[in-house]
Amino acid sequence: MKLHHVIEAQQFDQATLLELFDASRRMEEVARNGGISDYHNRIMATLFYEPSTRTRFSFEAAMHRLGGRVITTENAAEFSSVSKGETLEDTIRIINGYADLIVIRHFEVGAAQRAAAVSRVPVINAGDGVGQHPTQALLDLYTIQKETGGIDGLTIAMVGDLAQGRTARSLAYLLGKFADVKVYFVAPPLLKMKADILAYLRERQVEYSEETDLEKVLPKVRVVYQTRVQKERFGDRIADYDKCRGMYILTGESLKLLDKKAIILHPLPRIDEITMEVDDDPRAAYFRQAQNGLYVRMALLQMLLGPPGSR
Ligand code: CP
Repeated sequence: MKLHHVIEAQQFDQATLLELFDASRRMEEVARNGGISDYHNRIMATLFYEPSTRTRFSFEAAMHRLGGRVITTENAAEFSSVSKGETLEDTIRIINGYADLIVIRHFEVGAAQRAAAVSRVPVINAGDGVGQHPTQALLDLYTIQKETGGIDGLTIAMVGDLAQGRTARSLAYLLGKFADVKVYFVAPPLLKMKADILAYLRERQVEYSEETDLEKVLPKVRVVYQTRVQKERFGDRIADYDKCRGMYILTGESLKLLDKKAIILHPLPRIDEITMEVDDDPRAAYFRQAQNGLYVRMALLQMLLGPPGSR
């Protein structure tokens, strides 16, 4: 499959995912040896309208490890000409003249798609509001494959803010590409997984159930995908936020319910939904997961930029 823009998780087929994961494994070795200089004549622009630690730094580190260069604005709403009223489309047209690839994070659902519609160079969606975060899902799935040995037959609990969680939405789309996956959605009533994802899973014949009791689910799964209740998405609905926060917290007690071979993932940042005592357990895989973001993004950039020297 030829990739150009990366906008939503469902555009990946299984063969492309497995090819990407093989390349990611090779990138682990490349990064360990300090990187390569193959893309020294390529420039990546990162345009972030929302805060980020992992996604922006790992994309930028990935481009540097491939030998490429980076131009960036970390607070685009304030430091780009959007603050003077420039449209997103005009901003993208201008950056097309300076960079070979654009990574964009935006607060509006569909912003990356709008950017791609006017862009000659590849656009990567690094999160569009409560829409999707496809590259996070790629690294999540890579981590699952690497840590558990495979994806077919997986049992997974997705926990927390599923209604507003773009990472959980994108991961659900990717899980739909594999066989015999069972998904347990564990969320407060206000933050249940949305109907579009449930409809997609039914269409792909993926078994799922909606649950409220985390303790009942923990012994049944190989992967726990914990997420943060995202205060910033509630706006002035503070009472709703207060109703949902703190309902599902993984602690040392939760570990006793989990299988010895299970793993705990989290896209991060975490607030209080995984207590620090969990960090030292070998099943806590979330920091390894964040590290994998570097390798997967190196492989993805290489896939999009093409062979070194090609333009
Ligand atoms: N997981 C993730 O998107 O983290 P950042 O917001 O720090 O990029």
